Amino acid sequence: MDGAMQDARQAGCLCYLAHAPLGAAFESDADSRCSDGASPYQRSTPALFDGAQNCKYQRGPMMFRSVYIAGHKGLVGSALLRNLQKNGYRNILVRTRQELDLRQSDDVHNFFSQARPEAVVVAAAKVGGIKANSEYPVDFLLENLQIQNNLIAASFESGVKKLLFLGSSCVYPKLAPQPIREESLLAGPLEPTNEPYAIAKIAGIKLCQAYAQQYGRNFVCAMPTNIYGPGDNFDLDKSHVLAALIRKVHEAKSSNRHVVAIWGTGTPRREFLHADDLADALRFLLENYDSPEIINVGCGEDLTIRELVEVVAKVIGFEIELEFDTTKPDGTPQKLLDTSRLLALGWKPRISLPDGIRQTYQWLLESSAQLRGWGH
Ligand SMILES: NC(=O)c1ccc[n+]([C@@H]2O[C@H](COP(=O)([O-])OP(=O)(O)OC[C@H]3O[C@@H](n4cnc5c(N)ncnc54)[C@H](OP(=O)(O)O)[C@@H]3O)[C@@H](O)[C@H]2O)c1
Repeated sequence: MDGAMQDARQAGCLCYLAHAPLGAAFESDADSRCSDGASPYQRSTPALFDGAQNCKYQRGPMMFRSVYIAGHKGLVGSALLRNLQKNGYRNILVRTRQELDLRQSDDVHNFFSQARPEAVVVAAAKVGGIKANSEYPVDFLLENLQIQNNLIAASFESGVKKLLFLGSSCVYPKLAPQPIREESLLAGPLEPTNEPYAIAKIAGIKLCQAYAQQYGRNFVCAMPTNIYGPGDNFDLDKSHVLAALIRKVHEAKSSNRHVVAIWGTGTPRREFLHADDLADALRFLLENYDSPEIINVGCGEDLTIRELVEVVAKVIGFEIELEFDTTKPDGTPQKLLDTSRLLALGWKPRISLPDGIRQTYQWLLESSAQLRGWGH
């Protein structure tokens, strides 16, 4: 054991407790409780941030006997489920909203005390675009606080060894220097159109960091950029920009209407990452990243909304004429994440934007009967 590892262990850093040997992975649900049988309160030696930072990057991947994906039916959660299955994880716990409403504190605590997951990914949230955020600020603030508070507190109480919380690039200030570094968190005012959602996400980050600081818990936070891919929500009232654009251009093609109306001026710059790339990054972080510092997940490139529609139109194979509705808000002028921290750890994205849009469109054509938010 080298000096840094020794220091970390002395500081009570839980990443060593969390390191299950590879051979011990993938056992049954019942076996997934704390191997030493101790109460999580007894085990949680308070660790200082300094101590936790010593064990920032695990040497060799951690594996877990059971992983609970909260929100496995969503765009991100479903991609993560596919990725974990493909990578040999067998004991993956999932519950639909009908089986477990994550806003209900007692139900969430009961689930954790019975299922005892060893690792948890918080991919459940109330998610939406500018329109939904501005129409339902109470829901975005309150539901997200409820969901994440319940999941994070129950993870602590049931002795979860690793928790990965998903924030968003929305947590950064509206005018953060580009590309946005993790240090920009709380350095300026937020974009007003999604402030309630962003405030809830910031509270989730702070809660994870508080558990790391006060109890030495290995609760880490990833900040993904805009995500797209199979399973996206195509409801124009709730969807994110790329899903909305794919739908608009597809409908224009189906009805042979060449004029497509776009919200705003088309000039804001945005970055997009395929859900399968995000899922791969999340597994990488689950297995390798053990710092309370937040970490960005993106592809490192952005483009304007106008350029994005042009890529979509090319993939769909239909010539369009754009009509910009400048009465609608643009949101933040640019949102590009600085991903150097993640790249330095050895992870990089693999799916190009045109390829990802092509694959998503193909999926859309093949599964139109089960598309979320698209009643036809
Ligand atoms: N999509 C993006 O562009 C993006 C970008 C950055 C960060 N993120 C983050 O990634 C995470 C997942 O986002 P996503 O795009 O995958 O969202 P999504 O497709 O809307 O999925 C969210 C999931 O959460 C579940 N859920 C919501 N409220 C629930 C409740 N009360 N009880 C139980 N389950 C509940 C949903 O269940 P139902 O299936 O029943 O609705 C759904 O499965 C979120 O934390 C989001 O902030 C997303």
